[in-house]
Amino acid sequence: AERPLTVAIDGPAASGKGTLAKRLAVVLGVPHLDTGLLYRAVGRRVLDAGADPADAAAATDAAVALVPEDLSRADLRGPVADAAAAKVASVPGVRAALLDFQRRFAQGGAVLDGRDIGTVVLPDAPVKLFVTAGLDVRAQRRYQELVSRGGAVPDFETIRAEMAARDEADRTRTAAPLRPAEDAAILDTSDLDADGALARAEAIIRWKLGV
Ligand code: CDP
Ligand code: CDP
Repeated sequence: AERPLTVAIDGPAASGKGTLAKRLAVVLGVPHLDTGLLYRAVGRRVLDAGADPADAAAATDAAVALVPEDLSRADLRGPVADAAAAKVASVPGVRAALLDFQRRFAQGGAVLDGRDIGTVVLPDAPVKLFVTAGLDVRAQRRYQELVSRGGAVPDFETIRAEMAARDEADRTRTAAPLRPAEDAAILDTSDLDADGALARAEAIIRWKLGV
């Protein structure tokens, strides 16, 4: 049987990995999983329980109790959810509880995006992309997203500072830190729009798979 086509996409906040992952999945005809949603939903559950997302026992309990409906909650985006997600994500028990689901999802072929897909979740994925972009560019993208979503928007400096802090926490934690896998192709989207990033990714995939 052919090796299932799994694509592992990792990168820092607002690098464009989610948009790319979604579009690649359509092109390749496989399902897409935004793994950040898992951590966001766990963070929300901890907040609902009135606990601290940095509390390892509370965070692990929430990850074990996670149900699919949690992933369609309307309150998984925004600064509070961002910070709670990054806190629960540093808890090893949380990461362990979410591992099986992610691997089962990928079994028949899939595109997964997150922080540790190429390094931990799918270390044998035939295609790995590490999507990145400069901090200012990424903060500007997130700012624009919040503005177009409407409602109260923090100022640009606050968004940039919170993003830089979350990236730093993701890169320096002990459990599955954000870093490119040895065999990942680096895709810098600083000067690319979503169409340009997709075209680059498709070229990398053709080259990797020799087609
Ligand atoms: O959309 P954005 O890149 O800002 O965030 P996300 O992908 O939804 O991830 C939110 C947080 O979850 C990240 O800052 C990480 O701390 C954590 N995360 C993780 O640790 N591992 C993953 N595979 C995905 C997300
Ligand atoms: O998933 P991640 O947090 O890495 O980023 P995203 O949600 O895919 O993208 C953040 C924003 O950047 C979205 O509003 C995209 O439309 C925009 N963008 C992009 O996704 N890709 C580019 N190459 C340039 C901009």
